[in-house]
Amino acid sequence: MLKNAVQAKPNLPTSPASAISGDAQAPVVAAKNVWLEASGIGGSTPEQGKLLGGAQVRIAQRDGDKLQLVLKGWQMEEAPSIVCQAKGHQVMPAVLSDAVAATVQRGTPETEPDTGQSWVPVEMTLWSNVSDLNTNRQALWDYSKDSYQKACAGCHVLAQKTHFTAKQWIGTMKSMKRFTSFTDDEYRLIQAYLQNHSKDLGGGIKGPVQRLAAPTTARQRPPILPSWLSGWRSNSRARPCVARLQAMRTTQGLVALQ
Ligand code: HEC
Repeated sequence: MLKNAVQAKPNLPTSPASAISGDAQAPVVAAKNVWLEASGIGGSTPEQGKLLGGAQVRIAQRDGDKLQLVLKGWQMEEAPSIVCQAKGHQVMPAVLSDAVAATVQRGTPETEPDTGQSWVPVEMTLWSNVSDLNTNRQALWDYSKDSYQKACAGCHVLAQKTHFTAKQWIGTMKSMKRFTSFTDDEYRLIQAYLQNHSKDLGGGIKGPVQRLAAPTTARQRPPILPSWLSGWRSNSRARPCVARLQAMRTTQGLVALQ
């Protein structure tokens, strides 16, 4: 029984080492340690950074089971240890030690008009092993889509990916984590999937995200349940949750369920 239950959970979609070749794009499936020098891999030098699930890296060269990887991204000037995938968005493909941060090649800073923050395009070269990569980004998203649907549709209708911005998905996933049995790597990969398909990064909507003005009166306050959650009442497994929501609504004086 238990064996079956464990087996029912698909393994993360990693490509076999034999499928990984030089000069190719290789999305990262699960957190991977990186070093500045090939000799650091498997040695006594602690890791000098981490690539995180969903990161897109290019393999510059393969030397046995060691890979030279190039990562491009954006950084905020005041946070040199964090790499973001896109300017102004909190999708994080890597975290860097001071040693790696010092080697990052920086381009010309650009200011985000809606926040005034300064962002710098960056590129870095790192070494890692052949594990935890996939040669096809779509395979990552197919796996994530399936896990998302299985883990997140049990209690309420599934949230549309484009309902939230990449930043909002961080908070939503954090608040729902307690309801899931995701490992850290699954959690991060599914978050990356949702962020890459979110309102501002994946929905085909370009340009800055429209910010809604804060509601000023109770009447203007939006109902706590977004429209896509209206299927809750027809889902019997969700009844206890709905009762909880109704209680929350009563105590918080929010609009009653329609
Ligand atoms: C065990 C039941 C359960 C599961 C599984 C579950 N949820 Fe929820 N969800 C709830 C409840 C209860 C609420 C009401 C608010 C709360 O308790 O935080 C909610 C509210 C939400 C909301 C609206 C509130 C907000 O934060 O904007 C979103 C979006 C959401 N869930 C997404 C998800 C996602 C994504 C997953 C999978 C990672 C998930 N849910 C899995 C029970 C569940």
